[in-house]
Amino acid sequence: SIVYLNGEYMKPEEAKISPMDRGFLYGDGIYEVIPNHHGKSVGLGLHLKRMENGLKEIGIEYNTEQLREVVAHLLEANEGDDLNVYIQISRGTYEKRFHGFPEKVEPTVFLYTWEISEAHVADKEKAHKLKVVTADDLRWQRCHIKSTSLLGNVLHFQQSYGEGLNETLLFNEEGNLTEGSSSNAYIVKDGVLYTPPLSDELLPGITRHILLAILREHSDIEVVERAISKAEVFAADEIWMTSASKEVGPVVEVDGKPVGNGEIGDVWLKAQALYSKYCY
Ligand code: PDD
Repeated sequence: SIVYLNGEYMKPEEAKISPMDRGFLYGDGIYEVIPNHHGKSVGLGLHLKRMENGLKEIGIEYNTEQLREVVAHLLEANEGDDLNVYIQISRGTYEKRFHGFPEKVEPTVFLYTWEISEAHVADKEKAHKLKVVTADDLRWQRCHIKSTSLLGNVLHFQQSYGEGLNETLLFNEEGNLTEGSSSNAYIVKDGVLYTPPLSDELLPGITRHILLAILREHSDIEVVERAISKAEVFAADEIWMTSASKEVGPVVEVDGKPVGNGEIGDVWLKAQALYSKYCY
């Protein structure tokens, strides 16, 4: 396959950056994961905009629109109908240990692709059923920034993965749902879809954005953005988690207890069907 590093295309093994890169030493950077099917990106403009917002927040000046060309080239050069494109922009390479923003440093820009292995089908038999655990959200107070400093998320993900499970549902100090370690979270109760409102406690997921827009425009499912308590999570008829890689992921078990009747729900089926219809 072909990757992109700082203006050039090359084989992955030829892509070299200095260990002095701020991305490596400080996790000082922003990233994106963009799904693509048959050469067409899902929400490319939204991903590039979110990246630009994140870069602005951490004081890196970079016009992400110039990456459209790079994404298109990588999709053409790399094999596979279904590819994820990863973009990372770090503050750049700086030789001195210095916590501030160094002057005159060029951002390091890296893109690579990989084949999407999960098949997403609106089919209760074939869908991947997610089992999750709950935990206190111990990350930082800027979760709306898609930072490459992912240790908080990594440790939370491991809380479920280490038990052979799929995701960790996180709760803030008030006991309200924030999101998952690498996905946004939703509950369905009596046919109504609830998800936490955007704030600095969660990532403004692009899958979330697209899904809510599709449901509001093309379905009779009511969508409500409001705080969700832990009790409501345990009493939910359905729980979903979304991300670029999961699309709409149905959760069937939380902390060893079945969600609803323990089977994938009907509202999920409608939602994933609409998502597939409008995004492929
Ligand atoms: N994760 N919340 C967190 C903490 C995430 O890391 C992600 C995405 C999401 C969903 O965002 P989106 O719908 O834009 O993918 C929510 C990506 C896929 C990752 O880290 O690989």
